[in-house]
Amino acid sequence: MLLNLTIVAGDGIGPEVTEEAIRVLDAVVSAFGHQLKLTRKNIGGAALAASNDPLPPDTLDACLKAGAVLLGAVGSPAYDKNPGHIRPEAGLLRLRKELGAFANLRPAVCIPALLENSPLRAEVVKGTDIMIVRELLGGLYFGQPRSIVGEPGSREALNTMRYSEHEIERIARVAFELARSRRHKVLSVDKANVLECSRLWRDVVSRVGTAYPDVKLTHQYVDSAAMLLVQHPTEVDVILTENMFGDILSDQAGGVVGGLGLLASASIGGAVGLYEPVHGSAPNIAGKGIANPLGAILSGAMLLRHSFQLEREAACIESAVSAALAAGHRTCDLAREGQPALGTSEMGSKVVEASRELSASHARAGAHEQPA
Ligand code: IPM
Ligand code: MG
Repeated sequence: MLLNLTIVAGDGIGPEVTEEAIRVLDAVVSAFGHQLKLTRKNIGGAALAASNDPLPPDTLDACLKAGAVLLGAVGSPAYDKNPGHIRPEAGLLRLRKELGAFANLRPAVCIPALLENSPLRAEVVKGTDIMIVRELLGGLYFGQPRSIVGEPGSREALNTMRYSEHEIERIARVAFELARSRRHKVLSVDKANVLECSRLWRDVVSRVGTAYPDVKLTHQYVDSAAMLLVQHPTEVDVILTENMFGDILSDQAGGVVGGLGLLASASIGGAVGLYEPVHGSAPNIAGKGIANPLGAILSGAMLLRHSFQLEREAACIESAVSAALAAGHRTCDLAREGQPALGTSEMGSKVVEASRELSASHARAGAHEQPA
């Protein structure tokens, strides 16, 4: 198979971590007999610097034509004072919209080797395996009208939270379908005691849920769900929630399992899937070669699974990451007292090595299966 990828590495640590993800992807897909074809384009602050547009037309075009898009990160303090439409983040939001990527999947799994990295007691966090299904194209992020008006001192700002039944229905279906391949539980998170959007959300999710009698649906307000996440994270299977709540809860879930550096995401549902680590551009450590590439590498695994149905290849990357961690390799965000910290590309190399071993043993197993 030829895997046609558009790479938009973006800002800050984006380029560094994306390079490692590409190295791992290349090692794994070639071991399984596939080939990568890469097209690199600018997005975010990097694109603003070159063209004053955070999503230039040729970038969008290359993304729409790709089999999948791998993104590093967007965001740079240099543009903090820019109006909304020419901030780096606007490029990412427009890309999500243009790709039709309404379903954002963010797994948060407690990896045994990192049990001690969680701020929670080991017995609380052990076994945590959460899939956050975040609606990605609606709510406050995209609702119109939006504005800041008036003179300094008496300005007013306005954002709009808006959801249609159709938007809620399609994301709910994604969550219920995913729950069927997991522990058959959906926790729908809203603020239905206060917000009309959430009341509609709860109503539509309940209706969709009747088509999935094998999945246990519960509803919870976002404040109390935030507490559940830290008190009893192992009780949570699939979280289904709107755009802003999902943004917040996914960082929280990252903290619960020991850090954001490991979290990967898939933004799917449209013509082309978009894959990116959950962490941001981390300008404070950009260019130092110390960022954790595992979130980007695991996003590569999600890319293989969701855009190319290459489940074995995806699992190989995930096992390689677990093996590298089990062998004690750590980047500085994960290293605990007494543990040496590897740089970004050294960590990438450990995962490449582990994936080579895993894919080689896979190939040997495959050879034994051949008829004589
Ligand atoms: C995320 C990020 C983005 C978001 C930003 C960079 C626009 O925080 O992917 O979680 O809010 O969706
Ligand atoms: Mg976020």
